[in-house]
Amino acid sequence: MVDNIWSEFAWSYDAICSQLNCYRRMVDKILRDTQGLAYVIDAGCGTGLVSEALVARGSTVVGFDNNPGMLAVALRKQAQSSEEARARWTVLEGDVRVFPSRAVGGADAVVLNNVLFYVREPEAVLRESLAHLKPGGRLISAGPRRRPDLRKVMEQSIEEWKAEGRWDEALQKATAYHVDLTRRLVSDPNEMVTFFEPEALVAELRRLGCTRVLAADHDDYYGENYYVCMER
Ligand SMILES: C[S@@+](CC[C@H](N)C(=O)[O-])C[C@H]1O[C@@H](n2cnc3c(N)ncnc32)[C@H](O)[C@@H]1O
Repeated sequence: MVDNIWSEFAWSYDAICSQLNCYRRMVDKILRDTQGLAYVIDAGCGTGLVSEALVARGSTVVGFDNNPGMLAVALRKQAQSSEEARARWTVLEGDVRVFPSRAVGGADAVVLNNVLFYVREPEAVLRESLAHLKPGGRLISAGPRRRPDLRKVMEQSIEEWKAEGRWDEALQKATAYHVDLTRRLVSDPNEMVTFFEPEALVAELRRLGCTRVLAADHDDYYGENYYVCMER
């Protein structure tokens, strides 16, 4: 387990991301591209937001993360879910560079949602992810194309919240804390280290053995994020 900036995020990450429309739209794309898939590995699962949506939709999910604070939130959610959901949702401690042994291979999909930007060895993580897919399985990766324009993302998000009547005191308080921390994350060159344009990630995944492109765009987070889904 590692104690890093994600320990501080654990307080606000779930509260904010679950409310951010740009995050919700990204999760919708993951649900779209895993529709009907039985077994999904959520690598770097954080507080379990994506895992929870996949489980609710019917998949069996193994999620893992190496930060104790983020993982504690995911474990709490898993424990509080219905018995039927709990049976299909496993939350583990683990590193995306070498998946934990209980994240067994042969997966229908591996999801790396907003995770690669934090690792210095993206090729190792992609290789490990592909090694855990069955032939024809899907690798989904989303993340920043470059150091993100935080002000643009937050201003547009707040506009949307106001228009929807959701910009209440609780959200304002959580946002203030979260934005402060996110500003540190996006500006510190030691925190955010890996960025991809979708075309570059597609080329990298082809080199590593992926064949078919199911999605490759840069629509998310108001144009700041890429989204790629490819078949092994
Ligand atoms: C932006 S959060 C994304 C969480 C989740 N995937 C989601 O979509 O909400 C990044 C997560 O990656 C995790 N992470 C970063 N490096 C990792 C590593 N080497 N192994 C496992 N998890 C890692 C962090 O602990 C954090 O929870």
